[in-house]
Order: sequence, then structure tokens, then C-alpha cells
Amino acid sequence: MHPKLLAFLAIGCLLLALVDAGRPKITYAPRKPFKPMKPSPPRKKTCDVKANGYGRDDSQNILSALKKCNNGGTVVFKPGTVYTIGKALDMTFLKSVDIDIQGTIKFTDDIVYWEGNSFKYAFQNQSSFFQIGGKDVNVYGGGTLDGQGQPWWQALQTNASIVRPILFAVIGLEGGTIADINLVNSPNWFNIIANSSDVTYDGLHMTAVSTNSSIFPSNTDGWDTLRSTNIVIQNSHINNGDDCVAFKPNSTDILVQNLYCNGSHGISVGSLGQYLGEVDIVENVEVYNIHMSNASDGARIKVWPGSPPGAAFGTGGGSGYVKNIVYNGMHIDNDQWAIELTQCYGVSNASICDQYPSNMTISEIQFTNFDGVTSKTHEPDVATVVCSSPDVCFDIHVSNFSVVSPEGTNDAVCTNVDNSTLGLNCTSG
Ligand SMILES: *[C@@H]1O[C@H](CO)[C@@H](O)[C@H](O)[C@H]1NC(C)=O
Ligand SMILES: *[C@@H]1O[C@H](CO)[C@@H](O)[C@H](O)[C@H]1NC(C)=O
Ligand SMILES: *[C@@H]1O[C@H](CO)[C@@H](O)[C@H](O)[C@H]1NC(C)=O
Ligand SMILES: *[C@@H]1O[C@H](CO)[C@@H](O)[C@H](O)[C@H]1NC(C)=O
Ligand SMILES: *[C@@H]1O[C@H](CO)[C@@H](O)[C@H](O)[C@H]1NC(C)=O
Ligand SMILES: *[C@@H]1O[C@H](CO)[C@@H](O)[C@H](O)[C@H]1NC(C)=O
Ligand SMILES: *[C@@H]1O[C@H](CO)[C@@H](O)[C@H](O)[C@H]1NC(C)=O
Ligand SMILES: *[C@@H]1O[C@H](CO)[C@@H](O)[C@H](O)[C@H]1NC(C)=O
Ligand SMILES: *[C@@H]1O[C@H](CO)[C@@H](O)[C@H](O)[C@H]1NC(C)=O
Ligand SMILES: *[C@@H]1O[C@H](CO)[C@@H](O)[C@H](O)[C@H]1NC(C)=O
Ligand SMILES: *[C@@H]1O[C@H](CO)[C@@H](O)[C@H](O)[C@H]1NC(C)=O
Ligand SMILES: *[C@@H]1O[C@H](CO)[C@@H](O)[C@H](O)[C@H]1NC(C)=O
Repeated sequence: MHPKLLAFLAIGCLLLALVDAGRPKITYAPRKPFKPMKPSPPRKKTCDVKANGYGRDDSQNILSALKKCNNGGTVVFKPGTVYTIGKALDMTFLKSVDIDIQGTIKFTDDIVYWEGNSFKYAFQNQSSFFQIGGKDVNVYGGGTLDGQGQPWWQALQTNASIVRPILFAVIGLEGGTIADINLVNSPNWFNIIANSSDVTYDGLHMTAVSTNSSIFPSNTDGWDTLRSTNIVIQNSHINNGDDCVAFKPNSTDILVQNLYCNGSHGISVGSLGQYLGEVDIVENVEVYNIHMSNASDGARIKVWPGSPPGAAFGTGGGSGYVKNIVYNGMHIDNDQWAIELTQCYGVSNASICDQYPSNMTISEIQFTNFDGVTSKTHEPDVATVVCSSPDVCFDIHVSNFSVVSPEGTNDAVCTNVDNSTLGLNCTSG
């Protein structure tokens, strides 16, 4: 071969390697997952997803590529290509497969179709466009999933019963990574992770922005975990209109680190204990190094009291516990509360909460290394810890907390909690 041609080919291969970086290597720093993540062997073949173009549905093309490359291959969405998903896509049969999304995937905004055909979940009446599950699945590639949320948020204005799909649903996945992907304008939550274990999210960029200032991108939570264990969420940027991350019932061994959240409701445990007869557990959660801007809360824990159902003042009464939760390193930037812990969630009348203490215990909670300035909203207060009774709410500690309000105060509201060891400047109950 001519040396010039050889050099040309070599440069070509190098460029290809740069464009298609392959599966990213994920590192866990500074904190490590609760349990080591399982290794994922390299894949041996690739299958390109065909694009029909012109907004025509590609879900069958995606399924065919996945079936061809399942058990050891990589399915590729080519760069510079727009794919359309207009049919609910069940991908819970996956095993040892990579999904390399370099192009853009758009979901149709056919509200009538999705209302009838999205995957439905009993939990809070949620639904999704597609679901990924199985064993050992890696999704990456630098591409974009676009949920086209605007018409959904708009429809919600006139009909509160509209069931808006979650953009990215991981259901029943054992081992996997979702890395280096952009998620835009989800109709509802961006991510749900349910019935899963040993899954890592790394380097995601999510943004939900309404083009109409009178329409809010409602319920666009970054992540919600449910019935899942050993999950890592890290190194991501989220611009949204609800919880940045929320730990729902039976979330255990969860590490969240190095996030930039803007416009959210904070990093939240709950709400839990809403339903009488149900047992909710959130245990072993570490939240580390978070920049929280323009949010209602930084660190948040919300639990319902023991009020029996049917009563005029709402619901609650569920049991279970919230235990060993660490928020370490949070930079507060124009957030309403730096810390908001309540065991009286959903009840406006404090005497109701005194009368019916929560059946969910909150204990072993640590908030440490918080700095920054809140918004003026609750000035002079910057934090609130409202328990229903010290018997079911104890071992709560705040340390190295230098957050102040814009006028420089650091007062806190502390109710039914031992404030002598709490570490806040409790000036009111
Ligand atoms: C779910 O939908 C059912 C039936 O529409 C309704 O009764 C129930 O209140 C809903 N639950 C939640 C949590 O929204
Ligand atoms: C609101 O949306 C629900 C769910 O799609 C539907 O059943 C109901 O008919 C809609 N109501 C109106 C007034 O459009
Ligand atoms: C998860 O598993 C539970 C219990 O097996 C099941 O009831 C539920 O439908 C599954 N899916 C989700 C999304 O929770
Ligand atoms: C913005 O939303 C409001 C409320 O739904 C609606 O009345 C208005 O027409 C919308 N504006 C545009 C430009 O779509
Ligand atoms: C944060 O959100 C606000 C309001 O949506 C927006 O103006 C601002 O650009 C966002 N900041 C970043 C860094 O994304
Ligand atoms: C959570 O786990 C407890 C204890 O195993 C169980 O009783 C409860 O049903 C689970 N809750 C959910 C929502 O899966
Ligand atoms: C907070 O929101 C305002 C607009 O409401 C925006 O100008 C600012 O950039 C946001 N702060 C950050 C750090 O993104
Ligand atoms: C809360 O727990 C106590 C003791 O276990 C029980 O007597 C009470 O009925 C429970 N309350 C509710 C609302 O479930
Ligand atoms: C709070 O609830 C109690 C009943 O438990 C009632 O007597 C009282 O009037 C209520 N207070 C307010 C302000 O609603
Ligand atoms: C206190 O927290 C700040 C960040 O908020 C951190 O820079 C500093 O090192 C911490 N101090 C100690 C003694 O840990
Ligand atoms: C508590 O807040 C008050 C009012 O802002 C302030 O005067 C006092 O120094 C604070 N105490 C501590 C221990 O920070
Ligand atoms: C604890 O609360 C009481 C009553 O609200 C208050 O007088 C006291 O200063 C508080 N102690 C601390 C350490 O905040």
C-alpha cells in the first residue's frame, strides 16, 4: 500500500475512534458505591439502527437491532441522524448489550396514543414511553433523547388527569450504566429506576425549559428511585422544575455525588408514609458535593404523620423508617431552605401532627459541610426541622453549617426534636 494512503487510513481510523469513543470508563470519586459494581464484558459485534426519517416511527427498527445484537453486541444510533419513537417500546428482555446513542431520539407528542399505550406503573400512577430492563446493559454515546414536553405541560393546564410519560424508565435492571447522554424536555420525571440493582448514572445533562412563561415544566424530577438497591447517580447537570433526585419507597444503598442542580426542589427523601398499611424504607443514602441553585430546598426529608385516612385533614399513617442518610457538602445558592425535614408532611395544622405522630421513624441523619446563601423567602430562617414526636425522630445532626440568609441570619425552626445536639440555631418551634 502507498505510504500516503496508509497514513490517510490511519488518520481516518483515529478520527473514527475519536467520534465513536465507545463505552466510557466510569470512575467513582471521591466516594465509592455501597457495593462494588459488577464488571461488564466487552461486546463483540455491532448492529446499526435503521432510521425511517421524516418523523416516521422507528420503534420496530430499534427492536430488530436489539434482538440481533442482544447477548454480546452493541446497538448503534448513528450520529447526525434523528430517530422517532411513536410506539411504546418494551426493552426488558436485554442481556449483555450496549446501546450507543450518538444521534437524536425524539418521542412523538401524540397524547391520545401515549395515554392508551404507555407503560403504566401502580406507583403514583406513573407511566413511560419505553422501559429498559434485564441484565448488564450499558447506554451511552453523547446523543440526545427529546421528550417534546411542551404540549404535555400545556395539556396539563386544562386537564390534571393527563398521564404524562416518564422519559427514561429503567425497570428490573441488574447491573448497568447510563452515561454521557442528554435528556431534554421530559413530559414528566426524567428518570425512574425501579426494581433494579447495581446501576450507575454518570455524566447526564438534563434540561426542561418551557418556551411559554405561563406554562411550567411540571414534575420534571431528575431521578426517582423505587424498590432499588446499590445505585449511583453522579457527575451530572440538571435544569428542571421538581426534585433533582428523590428517594421513593425501598431505596437502599444509594450514592449521589457531584451534581449541579438548578431550579429544582432539592435532593429529597420521600414523600414517604402516605398510605396506611404500607411499609416504606429508605436506608443508607450518601449525598456528596452538590451545587444547588434556585431551588425550593437543598436537603429535604418529607414524611407523613400518622393521621388516619378519611379524616378531613388528609392522609398518612404508613409505617417504616428513614435511616442513615448523609448529606455531605452542599453549596446553597438562592434556595428557599438549606435543610427542610418534616415529619408532618401534608398537614397544615400542627396540632394534628402532635395528636398523630408519624408511624415512620427518622433516625441517624447527618447534614454536614453546608455553605452558601439562601433566598429571602424564609428570612431570618434558613433551615427547618419539624418532627411529629422526639420518640420517632432522633439522632439528627447538623455540623459545619455556615449557610446564611441574604441579611446574614442563620435562624432555624425546630419542633419536637432534641435541639441540644441538633447543631442549628433554633430560635423558634
Ligand atoms: C391514581 O389514579 C386513581 C384512579 O384514577 C386515583 O383514584 C388515585 O387517587 C390516583 N393516585 C395517585 C397517587 O394519584
Ligand atoms: C382528561 O384526561 C383524561 C386522561 O386522558 C381523560 O380520560 C379525560 O377525558 C380528559 N378530560 C377532559 C375534560 O378532556
Ligand atoms: C416491581 O416489582 C413489584 C413487586 O414485584 C411489582 O409490583 C411492580 O409492578 C414492579 N414494577 C415497578 C415499576 O415497580
Ligand atoms: C402560553 O400559555 C398560555 C396558557 O396556557 C396560553 O394562553 C398562551 O396562548 C400560550 N402562548 C403561546 C405563545 O403559546
Ligand atoms: C438556571 O435556571 C434559570 C431559570 O430557568 C436560568 O435562567 C439559568 O440560565 C439556569 N442556569 C444554568 C447555569 O443553567
Ligand atoms: C418495602 O419493603 C418492605 C419490607 O420488606 C415491604 O414490606 C414493603 O411492601 C416494601 N414496599 C414497597 C413499596 O415495595
Ligand atoms: C438562578 O435563576 C436566575 C433566574 O431566575 C438566573 O439568572 C441565575 O443564573 C440562576 N442561577 C444559577 C446559578 O444558575
Ligand atoms: C401507628 O402505629 C401504632 C402502633 O404500632 C398503631 O397503634 C396505630 O394504629 C398506627 N397508626 C396508624 C394510623 O396506622
Ligand atoms: C387543628 O385541628 C384541631 C383538631 O385536631 C382543631 O381543634 C383546631 O381547630 C384546628 N386548628 C386550625 C387552626 O385549623
Ligand atoms: C466545612 O465546610 C466547608 C464547605 O462548606 C469546607 O470547605 C470545610 O473544609 C469544612 N470544614 C471542616 C473542618 O470540615
Ligand atoms: C442565631 O441567630 C441570631 C439571630 O440571627 C444571632 O444573633 C446569633 O448569633 C445566632 N447564633 C448562633 C450560635 O449562630
Ligand atoms: C432550643 O429551643 C429552645 C426553645 O425553642 C430555645 O430556647 C433554645 O435556645 C434552643 N437551643 C438551641 C441550641 O438552639
